[in-house]
Amino acid sequence: MKLGFLLCCLCVFTAPTCSTSERCDDWGVDTMKLIQAYEGEPARIRCPLFQDFLKHNYSTAHSAGLTLMWYWTGQGKDLEEPVNIRLPNNRIIKDKDTLWFRPAIINDTGNYTCMLRNTTFCSRVAFPLEVVRKDADSCVSQAVKPEVVELPLEHTERLPCPDTDGFFPVNVTPSVTWYKDCISENFYERLPQGLNLTFIVVRSNYQGNYTCIVTYEDSGKIYNLTRTSEVKVVGPPEDEKPPSMTTPNAKTLYEFAAGEEMLLSCEVFCPFVRNSRNDVWWTVDGKKLEENTERIIITESVNEQLGGAKTIKVSLSIKQVTVEELKRNYTCAARNSLGEVSRQAPVKEKVGTPRYITELACGLGATLFLVVCLIIVYHVYWLEMVLFYRAHFGTDETIGDGKEYDVYVSYARNAEEEEFVLVTLRGVLENEFGYKLCIFDRDSLPGGSK
Ligand SMILES: *[C@@H]1O[C@H](CO)[C@@H](O)[C@H](O)[C@H]1NC(C)=O
Ligand SMILES: *[C@@H]1O[C@H](CO)[C@@H](O)[C@H](O)[C@H]1NC(C)=O
Ligand SMILES: *[C@@H]1O[C@H](CO)[C@@H](O)[C@H](O)[C@H]1NC(C)=O
Ligand SMILES: *[C@@H]1O[C@H](CO)[C@@H](O)[C@H](O)[C@H]1NC(C)=O
Ligand SMILES: *[C@@H]1O[C@H](CO)[C@@H](O)[C@H](O)[C@H]1NC(C)=O
Ligand SMILES: *[C@@H]1O[C@H](CO)[C@@H](O)[C@H](O)[C@H]1NC(C)=O
Ligand SMILES: *[C@@H]1O[C@H](CO)[C@@H](O)[C@H](O)[C@H]1NC(C)=O
Ligand SMILES: *[C@@H]1O[C@H](CO)[C@@H](O)[C@H](O)[C@H]1NC(C)=O
Repeated sequence: MKLGFLLCCLCVFTAPTCSTSERCDDWGVDTMKLIQAYEGEPARIRCPLFQDFLKHNYSTAHSAGLTLMWYWTGQGKDLEEPVNIRLPNNRIIKDKDTLWFRPAIINDTGNYTCMLRNTTFCSRVAFPLEVVRKDADSCVSQAVKPEVVELPLEHTERLPCPDTDGFFPVNVTPSVTWYKDCISENFYERLPQGLNLTFIVVRSNYQGNYTCIVTYEDSGKIYNLTRTSEVKVVGPPEDEKPPSMTTPNAKTLYEFAAGEEMLLSCEVFCPFVRNSRNDVWWTVDGKKLEENTERIIITESVNEQLGGAKTIKVSLSIKQVTVEELKRNYTCAARNSLGEVSRQAPVKEKVGTPRYITELACGLGATLFLVVCLIIVYHVYWLEMVLFYRAHFGTDETIGDGKEYDVYVSYARNAEEEEFVLVTLRGVLENEFGYKLCIFDRDSLPGGSK
């Protein structure tokens, strides 16, 4: 009789474990759903099946005859076992889709599975619960990552103590102590109002980790809830704008010689915009560069500024750029939820410096040489040149100079000399070269030229 009862018990306890080996839609361990709780404090876990995996909610599932069961695998254990909901003082209780720990202990750490089933349908998912101890001399544990809350600069804001609803009856007023970075300071310009901390005015130095410890009594026992929010002070909504581009701009020179490295930098200021991504990218001939190619290397750096604004710099580099690559259209673009901006870097090919200088030097040298040559030639052959000029172009300064004669000839009066002057000299000078001779006898008349 007793043995039979024991066997029956065993069956009841092992049956769910056995049936899990039957077909059941297993969603595995959802590590994104990690829940963290402090040792000695109340904690709750809610079955994620109803929120993320199935269409129906708990009440519709329940009324459709489906039952929800909880299993867990303790830390460092292999065996999945049912969660014991019959502990003394009801330390762990099941309420609809929620499992409550009052309080949680370190040994509760493990993977918890909730399974929803009837005879023909089964679906299950697991997720981790981590119970942590507070760090020594601290009001929190570094292992618990706080939620980030963004408060706009210069505004009046209310910071609520998160995730406390449902832990105590609504008619219970808990006592709440606020800490900034675990120091219970005299909050200047910030008023603790129960579960809210009101920032009369948000200032940049009010950034930090705010912890609220909520203490309440339930069934004669005192419980604490410790919650932390990481406050980030961000630019106010009125300062939210589309991104603005510092470079490329019209003032920067984008000249590169073929064979050089071409480095283009795109610098964008992105003001803080709530719930907005900031994207900065390059396009080459209208094609967006998603990642590095074998020729083009993209590097991005982000400089975070006060108030959540960012300066994003995206550089595009081509080692040993070719003439063809210098002819392409390099355009940088930036976008947030409020708008988009784009600008082309007017890339040009630079004419090589060495070639330019030698060309200039050669030109100058040649000109100088020519000038020197001409001067020498003129000095040596000037007479010939003048005569040559006269011979070929006839007219010269001797006609227009206003004088009657160009040459005065005086000679001894003998027949020999007279013949030379009147025939030979006169023939050559007057007839061939066009000079006018003043010959003593022929041209000297009384009262004439002197
Ligand atoms: C569950 O879903 C039904 C319909 O889908 C809806 O009427 C009901 O209010 C939901 N219950 C809860 C607790 O959300
Ligand atoms: C926690 O588990 C360890 C070993 O798994 C056991 O020795 C210890 O007694 C447990 N503590 C509590 C409070 O159950
Ligand atoms: C929970 O499951 C994940 C994935 O299987 C595993 O990596 C992790 O160690 C488990 N955690 C515990 C506490 O057993
Ligand atoms: C089991 O649940 C599924 C899903 O809600 C339902 O379609 C099916 O009819 C149920 N089976 C029984 C035997 O109740
Ligand atoms: C706390 O703030 C919430 C809204 O954030 C408000 O509904 C609630 O009344 C506030 N409580 C107190 C005590 O001021
Ligand atoms: C807030 O706490 C988190 C985790 O403990 C830490 O990484 C972060 O630096 C803290 N922030 C400030 C402003 O102290
Ligand atoms: C609640 O927190 C306070 C302050 O941190 C501490 O002094 C007290 O011992 C805690 N009580 C419980 C029951 O953990
Ligand atoms: C360069 O590309 C951008 C983006 O694709 C385009 O808007 C722009 O008109 C192009 N410029 C020229 C000169 O083709």
